[in-house]
Amino acid sequence: MNDPNGLAYAFGKYQFFYQFHPYAAAWGPMHWGHYTSKDMIKWELAPTAIAPDEAYDRDGCFSGSAIVKDKKLYLLYTAVSGALQQQALAVSKDGMAFEKKGLVIAKADLPADASETNFRDPKVFEKNGTYYALVGSKNKSGAGQILLYASNDLENWRFVGCPYRTEGDELMCECPDCFTLSGKDVLLTSIQFLHRDGWRNENVHTARYLTGELDLSDGKFYPEIEDEVDSGFDFYAPQTFVAPDGRRVMIAWMQMWDRTYVTAPEGWVGAATLPRELFVKNGRLYQQPVREIETYRKNPVAFEDIPILGERTVEGVKGTKCELCFTLDMGTAARAGVKLFCGHNIETLLFYDRASGLVIFDRSNMGTLISGSSRERDALIRSTAVRVRDNKISFRLFLDVSSVEAFLNGGERTMTGLVYAPRYADGIVFFSEGGTATVEHLEKYDIVIP
Ligand code: FRU
Repeated sequence: MNDPNGLAYAFGKYQFFYQFHPYAAAWGPMHWGHYTSKDMIKWELAPTAIAPDEAYDRDGCFSGSAIVKDKKLYLLYTAVSGALQQQALAVSKDGMAFEKKGLVIAKADLPADASETNFRDPKVFEKNGTYYALVGSKNKSGAGQILLYASNDLENWRFVGCPYRTEGDELMCECPDCFTLSGKDVLLTSIQFLHRDGWRNENVHTARYLTGELDLSDGKFYPEIEDEVDSGFDFYAPQTFVAPDGRRVMIAWMQMWDRTYVTAPEGWVGAATLPRELFVKNGRLYQQPVREIETYRKNPVAFEDIPILGERTVEGVKGTKCELCFTLDMGTAARAGVKLFCGHNIETLLFYDRASGLVIFDRSNMGTLISGSSRERDALIRSTAVRVRDNKISFRLFLDVSSVEAFLNGGERTMTGLVYAPRYADGIVFFSEGGTATVEHLEKYDIVIP
C-alpha cells in the first residue's frame, strides 16, 4: 500500500481506502483497497473498491477522497490514462460496491498554466452547502501548486483559484487537504523533491502544513505558519477526515518512496500510521493518537523519578508492541533519552541533544541497513527541534513490531520511522551522557489488539 484514500465515517463505520497494487509487493497499476472499522484501531478487510478498468483510468486509480451525500458514499479519485491525470467520481449505496460515474474534473477544467500530466489527489469537502475540491498540480514552469474547484452537485465543477504555489521549481504538490481547527484554516500538502532546510525536509518528499486563512470565494490562502508535519523517516501523503464526534483525524502512509523495502520478500510493503487527532495551538499543528488506542492497553507498569547515569533498564519495561510515556528531565546531561529495539549491540536511539537543541532519531544501528533516494543525505538519522520547558521534554512512543511513532511535548512535534530489528531485540534502555538525567512519570503498556 501507499497513500491512505477516501477516509470517512459512513454506514456506521470508519472507512479506510488506500493505494493498493494487488499483484505484487511493489507499486503498480493502482487500485483502491478498503478496510472498515468501528473504532479506527481494529480493521476489517473489505473487497477492493475500485480497479483501473475503464479507458479513462486504465493506468491507475490514484489517490483521492470521500464524502457522504444523500446517504451515499462518493469517491473522488484521480483517473490515469497514459500521460493524462483527471478526476473521476464513483458512488456506493452500501459502502461495499462502487459504481463509476466517469470523469468530473477533466483536462478542459485546468487553468492555462497547469500541467495535464501532474494533476491529482482531489480532496473533497463541503462548506455552507457548496462542495469544494483541492487538487495537487504543477505549473508549466515546474512549481508545485494546489488548485481549488467548487461544485453544487459533485459532478459539475468550476475552477476557483490557486491557494498555494511553491517557490522552487521541479516540485509537485501531492495530496492536498484543508480544514478548520480552533478558528484557523490548515492546508496540508505532500511536496515531492522539496529541498532540505536544516533538519527539515530531510526525506525525498515531505508532508507540509500551513496555518492561516483560506478564502473560498477566490481560492486565496493567507499563510501564517508553515512547517513539516512529521520529522521522522517514514511519513507521507497524510489525509484527514472528521469523526462523528467532531474530531479531525489524520492518517498517513508510514513509508517513503525510493527506500529499501525490507519486507517485500514477505509479500507486503507499506503501512498506515496510527490515526492521529489534530489540534491547533498558537497557530501550530499538534497531533495525538486517537484515544481509542488506550482501550487496547494491557499490563500497565508505572514508575516515578528514575535517575539515569549511563544506561539503565527498568523492571517490566521492554517490548515491541507497546506504548511508552515519560517526561525526561535533562538534569546535567548533555544527551539523554531511550534506546528501543535493543539486543546484542543492536539499538535504535531517540534522545535529546542539548548542544543542538534537537531530538534525534537514530536507526543507523537497528540491525538492517536502509538506503533511500540519492536526494536524501541518509535514511538513518532524523532530527527535530523541540521546546524544552523547565529542562524537560515529554515523550509518548508507540512501538509496533517494526515502527516507532513518537509524539513529543504533547504532540507539538512527531517523529515516525520504521525499525527493522531482529525479533529478539525487544529491550528498552534509558541512557544519559555527560551528566545525570531523570525519567519522570514513566508509564508503559503493552498494546494488544485481539
Ligand atoms: C503520493 C502519490 C500520489 C498519487 C499516488 C499514486 O504518494 O504519488 O500523488 O496519487 O501516490 O499511487
